[in-house]
Amino acid sequence: MKIGATEILPKRGDITRESVDVIVNAANSDLLGGGGVDGAIHRAGGPEILAECREIRTRQGGCPAGEAVITGAGRLAAKYVVHTVGPVWRGGNEGEPKLLRSAYRNSLALAAEHGAKTVAFPSISTGVYGYPIEKAAGIALSAAREWAEEHDGLEEIRFILFSDDDLETYKKAAARLGA
Ligand code: APR
Repeated sequence: MKIGATEILPKRGDITRESVDVIVNAANSDLLGGGGVDGAIHRAGGPEILAECREIRTRQGGCPAGEAVITGAGRLAAKYVVHTVGPVWRGGNEGEPKLLRSAYRNSLALAAEHGAKTVAFPSISTGVYGYPIEKAAGIALSAAREWAEEHDGLEEIRFILFSDDDLETYKKAAARLGA
């Protein structure tokens, strides 16, 4: 889906293998790593990323849901890692949609502030945090489209899906948005 100068594309893959300016991590508020994408990024990126996260924790404490922080990318084929914290799904009436949208928008804002042209997102909150992926995909793609309509600095916003089913869900959401 092309919005202005920005290509928005869901694709199948492992986000730690993406060559982009910014890889986005689905972190938790402690910023000290975890499982899923968080574990994969720290494993592949190496200890420097965690060291920078610890410095951020010392400076500002953790990272609240919906917010984002930025570090170097260690051994990853990227310039930066943006660590954002999605909401835990609690049924949908506790501000989850707004927090998920903020996580995407704040990540894009940080990436743009650092001159990024290409950004790769995982499917934030749809793993351990239990956000229904059909709902999350619509929020993720509309947040990216809104951002691309408001800013022309990004060439690509990729959504890297870890399973064919997840990719299919995002493609359907993109088709609905693009229509
Ligand atoms: N590349 C791309 N996507 C991945 C990868 C990977 N290497 N590994 C997992 N995923 C997918 C999952 O299949 C899921 O669809 O990322 C999505 C997000 O899942 P989680 O990583 O569980 O993230 P989230 O649901 O946001 O939960 C965050 O999990 O790992 C902990 O420390 C993290 O506490 C935090 C919580």
